[in-house]
Amino acid sequence: MGCSTDHGALAGRFIALEGGDGAGKSTHLKMLAQALRGAGYVDQPGCPRLVVTREPGGTELGNQIRELVLYGGEVAPAAEALLYAADRAQHVTTVLRPALARADLVLTDRYLDSSIAYQAEGRGLTEDVIRSINAVATGGLTPDLVIVLDIEPEAATTRRHGSGDPADRVEQAGEAFHSKVNRRYRELAAADPDRYVMVDATGPKEEVHERIWAAVRKLAAAGPRRPPDNSIPSATDKPSCSVSGGGIFAPAAGIESEAVTQEVPRAEGRGQ
Ligand code: TYD
Repeated sequence: MGCSTDHGALAGRFIALEGGDGAGKSTHLKMLAQALRGAGYVDQPGCPRLVVTREPGGTELGNQIRELVLYGGEVAPAAEALLYAADRAQHVTTVLRPALARADLVLTDRYLDSSIAYQAEGRGLTEDVIRSINAVATGGLTPDLVIVLDIEPEAATTRRHGSGDPADRVEQAGEAFHSKVNRRYRELAAADPDRYVMVDATGPKEEVHERIWAAVRKLAAAGPRRPPDNSIPSATDKPSCSVSGGGIFAPAAGIESEAVTQEVPRAEGRGQ
């Protein structure tokens, strides 16, 4: 089957799935990917390719950072923020931007809002600082749609205990921490309802999936995809020193950064 105009509607789109620990992101990411393929939006001749990725750990370097930050023992809040940002910088440069430049559909398990919710609100670091660090990491790359899976921390803890997975360092942070994280997600979503969708993550997973699917269908129906993100550097772009413009290289550096596309397997056995 060729890709109909309608089913090319998600080409070059960038969707992030967010939410507190135990909200069911990994399950819903898989269900969403399956639904997108099943409905012919992706991975058909002429349709965009689906790129499913995650933070932390969407790259080789990111997998090493993931081990350090989640399972490597005590990490100071500022170090934690910088490690997540380093993972993100690598992810943006080597996976996300190249995929979007190819007009793939990108689905990421966590992105920038995780750092706002966990490092700023949760750990108490200044939100301005987190946004500044991450402006360097993302160069201004912003998802078209952020789906936030909303679940109370108590329900999430019960769910996680049922899964038998060992708790990582962040999951062990306690319910007060996770309540703050949830509250910040809700505020972020309320402040920008065009780009965020809060999804009630309680109840049967099929029902939760239907809510997520409705949000993605709405994005597809929004019309033709946006023009390519002009903060994606092209081969002929001169490096710029302006972070807000997407560049972080000083004009005199004389070193061109190369975006390298790579397929990185998700870490086995831990996390999702
Ligand atoms: P994830 O693998 O999504 O775990 P879970 O499936 O339990 O949600 O994320 C790993 C942990 O990393 C999670 O507890 C949230 C945390 N995290 C941050 O604190 N800041 C960030 O910027 C990111 C991307 C993740």
